[in-house]
Amino acid sequence: MAPRYDNFIAGEWVPGDGLTPNINPSDTSDIVGEFAAGTAEQVADAVRAAREAFPTWSQSPIQQRFDILDAVGNQIIQRAEELARLLAREEGKPIGEALGEVKRAAQLFKFFAGEAVRNTGELVDSVRPGLQVEMTHEPLGVIGVITPWNFPIAIPAWKLAPALAYGNTVVLKPSEVAPACAWELVNMLDRAGLPAGVVNLVMGSGSVVGDALVRADGVDAVSFTGSVATGRHVAEICARSGKRVQTEMGGKNPLVVLDDADLGIAVEAAINGAYYSTGQRCTASSRLVVTEKIHDRFVEALTRRLAELRVGDALDPATQIGPVVDQRQLDKDLHYLTLARQEGGRVIGGERLTLDKDGYYLSPALVLDTDNSMKVNQEEIFGPVATVIKVADYDEALATVNDTSFGLSAGICSSSLKYVTHFKRHAQAGLVMVNAPTAGVDYHVSFGGRKASSYGYREQGRAAREFFTLHKTTYIFAG
Ligand code: UN1
Repeated sequence: MAPRYDNFIAGEWVPGDGLTPNINPSDTSDIVGEFAAGTAEQVADAVRAAREAFPTWSQSPIQQRFDILDAVGNQIIQRAEELARLLAREEGKPIGEALGEVKRAAQLFKFFAGEAVRNTGELVDSVRPGLQVEMTHEPLGVIGVITPWNFPIAIPAWKLAPALAYGNTVVLKPSEVAPACAWELVNMLDRAGLPAGVVNLVMGSGSVVGDALVRADGVDAVSFTGSVATGRHVAEICARSGKRVQTEMGGKNPLVVLDDADLGIAVEAAINGAYYSTGQRCTASSRLVVTEKIHDRFVEALTRRLAELRVGDALDPATQIGPVVDQRQLDKDLHYLTLARQEGGRVIGGERLTLDKDGYYLSPALVLDTDNSMKVNQEEIFGPVATVIKVADYDEALATVNDTSFGLSAGICSSSLKYVTHFKRHAQAGLVMVNAPTAGVDYHVSFGGRKASSYGYREQGRAAREFFTLHKTTYIFAG
């Protein structure tokens, strides 16, 4: 019997209206757990609990917040191997990468524990005599947090930790495809002594739980990561009711490889950026924009490396590329590979694999001879699929980089200071990576994109405070 996981509302574990199985994509006979399907009524209960907890938590001593967040960081580190296995089982991320993500979650909790006691303001002289001005950051209120399946522990961590550090209360709705790690985080927060109602967990579908959360009157702000279509819908609803909103959405991230690039660095950046995490990252290097003189050497070396990559069970330490997360995503990946061929691309790899265990295995795919206007170069696939776009020179590469509706991450592999410097300034993206994959970010600096990729405030690092607090300007007449 698979374990049962309940929702967490007002400090109590409560069953939902039925259960949703969480299936291991590496082995579909392995049910990770049965997870509560939350209802709109439970969302209302959770929001009420969060509202009731807010006056006390928003006034709580910052040392208490530090201690709880720091304790959760320690619990995550102590349980890192176990949590990494859970993550690998529910999402299909290879165990090594899963362990890296779990550690990142611990680091996020520890970083924001520190931020809770560093919430400094500014004291300035007024332009008028006798007055002083203070600028401070106060807790915002009840935050609705909606997270995707592709980073089952890191994304809940980077939204929950700052929300709580700055004195807010939360209702969390993780993706129903991979909710186990989020459930564990909430359980750890409870065990670390977080008062009842400060964090609430309502699992279930976006159409029921997500929708009710975004529309709830008692919610002051929504932090969302997911698709462009859903993110825009969320932002629209929030705008109508005056809620603060941040939405992190898709990407179609270019990695430029110039003639003067170090071939080894460029190939490894492409392998890591495009195929690690099975390409299921909004920061994935999905468009490889390569100048003419290095094109054939780059493609040859990349194809050779591609053939060596081991696709398999996420729990097998020898696996480099795990399965696709589920049947729906697999169908989407295969649809885009068919489309790539119809549009005139030449596909290497991209085969449905039958291994020992019944899982959603797909060999990594490289699409050659593509043009940036093709659908496979304009729409996000979210799978182990990268394309190569051959360009004449740096100018054409930069134009190709920016010829997209997205703007999350943009990379360049080059040994030229002149081109790298120009690229840093002119790439229309929130993140720029030099001689590095477009994916893989630090927890202590701001994260976010431009254009259709992101809307609203930056996440992580010190920038997180902008979203999770309200500014106050206080004038004091000292006489
Ligand atoms: C990373 O590349 O390390 O959903 C982070 C995503 C992004 C996070 C990427 N929000 O893929």
